[in-house]
Amino acid sequence: MDKLLIEGGARLSGEIAISGAKNAALPILCAALLTREPVTFTNVPQLKDIGTLLKLIGQMGVKVAREGDTVTLDASALDNPVAPYEMVKTMRASILVLGPLVARCGEARVSLPGGCAIGARPVDQHIKGLQAMGAQVTVEHGYVHAQVPRLRGARLFTDMVTVTGTENLMMAACLADGETIIENAAREPEVVDLANCLVAMGARISGAGTDVIRIRGVESLSGTTHRIMPDRIETGTYLCAAAATGGEIRLSGTSSCYLDSVVDKLMDAGCDIVSERDAIRLKAPERLTSVSIRTAPYPAFPTDMQAQFMAINAVAGGTAVIRETIFENRFMHAVELQRLGADIRIDGNTAVVQGVAQLQGATVMATDLRASASLVIAGLVAEGETTIERIYHLDRGYEHLEEKLAALGARVRRLA
Ligand code: EPZ
Repeated sequence: MDKLLIEGGARLSGEIAISGAKNAALPILCAALLTREPVTFTNVPQLKDIGTLLKLIGQMGVKVAREGDTVTLDASALDNPVAPYEMVKTMRASILVLGPLVARCGEARVSLPGGCAIGARPVDQHIKGLQAMGAQVTVEHGYVHAQVPRLRGARLFTDMVTVTGTENLMMAACLADGETIIENAAREPEVVDLANCLVAMGARISGAGTDVIRIRGVESLSGTTHRIMPDRIETGTYLCAAAATGGEIRLSGTSSCYLDSVVDKLMDAGCDIVSERDAIRLKAPERLTSVSIRTAPYPAFPTDMQAQFMAINAVAGGTAVIRETIFENRFMHAVELQRLGADIRIDGNTAVVQGVAQLQGATVMATDLRASASLVIAGLVAEGETTIERIYHLDRGYEHLEEKLAALGARVRRLA
């Protein structure tokens, strides 16, 4: 199983380009299931999760064409609205086919995703919303089975802000009879990117980016060409890597407008950040100052950046308090950071990080995607060599990570 070997101590410097967003591409590729016409997507990141989704969609009867970061999907012959366990178990986001399949085919059989390292992550709100739109939904033998002649518009309220829940119900509502209102909707930029793509396909959506989204259903949708937005979490991860190593970098093909809460915290930590139209520059101080964070739905501080900030606070001057309010088990990286010499105390959903002068290289284990990113950052600042095991987690969400880090001057290589 692949491992990553990092020799710490290099200050990151130079420029790299940011890839398309995993968490926008996943729902947007599923939107192609809603139309009989071909849809073309550009800036699609070449990630393991994207490959898994394309295989899943392909076995439903969808023609999949891919060339570099361009993907064309033709769902005119969609005839198998089923998402089997074998595929869904490797990637929870497969649940995003449920709404489009029910709306387009009047039927879907989708394996329940099951839990994951960071939490139980149920999909009850996805199911509740489809039932409110008139679908008969049963959960049997580990599968969600939904049936309805045609969905009808409804007023939906989700018990908590759910990103893929909002995306699934918004896609389903596009072909429903009448108007749907989603209240307490997720406001994430990826939800807005999906809504923009759906509107380009002929959907009638207003309010995306706010907590109330209105969708007036239409008879059918058409094809389009859509460019996937930049990955704000990948952007934030490289900003943290440069900040922790005392570096100076420029990230192109991205923007700080999706990352205000993260940029604010990095500036509080002492970084100089310059936002350009289509790029971000960061210059780090000699040593960062500790910054406390509390994760919450957008536009607050993203949970997908929590682990990376635990890593930078591990070597900052001072004490930071980190509160994780979205997922119940998202501190797995803390024990691995402690193996590198970090001083971290956990109490329920709160971590207290006392910055230390120096981390020491060691062998550590990645447990989930963002936890592995925090171990990469810690390895870049640690003395000596750090070996990260189970890096397949990284491949799920970071395109060409070693090449990009090496381009910024890091000493990093993959070990088979
Ligand atoms: C999305 O997951 C992202 N994944 C996650 O990114 C991200 O961490 C999360 O949103 C929060 O920002 C994708 O977009 C593919 P939620 P999602 O539904 O939609 C509870 C990464 O690292 N909940 O917003 O699955 C849930 O358990 C990944 O790229 C229910 O109880 O997250 C959680 O506590 C990790 N019932 C909270 O709501 C439901 O039906 C928010 O989860 C739905 C959610």
